[in-house]
Amino acid sequence: MKKSLFCLIIVALIWSCNEAVDEGSTANNTESTENGMTVINGVERSELALLMRKMYDEMKLVKDSIDRGQIVKTDFLEEFERIQTAHATEPEKIDDTYQAMAGAFLDNYALFEQTSENQAEAFNIMLQNCLVCHQQKCPGPVKAINKLKIKP
Ligand code: HEC
Repeated sequence: MKKSLFCLIIVALIWSCNEAVDEGSTANNTESTENGMTVINGVERSELALLMRKMYDEMKLVKDSIDRGQIVKTDFLEEFERIQTAHATEPEKIDDTYQAMAGAFLDNYALFEQTSENQAEAFNIMLQNCLVCHQQKCPGPVKAINKLKIKP
């Protein structure tokens, strides 16, 4: 019982560009390797995947705060700029189109951080830039990212 619960939690942490890969995994080891990759459940987590995961978690917290009517102050731009250089699971995806979309996302992220009025609107525009790139490069998390949208 305890063991199967552990498996469930680990599987829930796995997220990939191709949703189907996540189904039916049974192994449950997590280990870090020296080249910046982390292995979870036998799946290598790239530096970019871990950074994206962090962006998702932080943006979920931001959304929840804005939903509660709070004004949010974040300071992640420098960290998120690493999406331009971080090692990806499929390095061939990091092409000129990716870099253009990454640049547009970062511009809009910077605008969001500078906005103190109507943060919901700036947040949704920024999120739209997550989605544009994901629709082309990594459709798996699109549904989850869509759920972060703030309803007016
Ligand atoms: C310029 C393109 C681009 C932008 C912008 C972008 N992503 Fe990603 N995202 C990717 C790619 C490519 C991957 C696959 C990374 C890998 O496996 O190495 C990914 C992976 C992910 C993952 C899966 C991470 C995992 O655990 O495997 C999540 C969640 C995610 N992104 C959320 C977001 C959110 C939220 C935003 C906006 C705040 C965002 N992304 C912006 C391209 C992008």
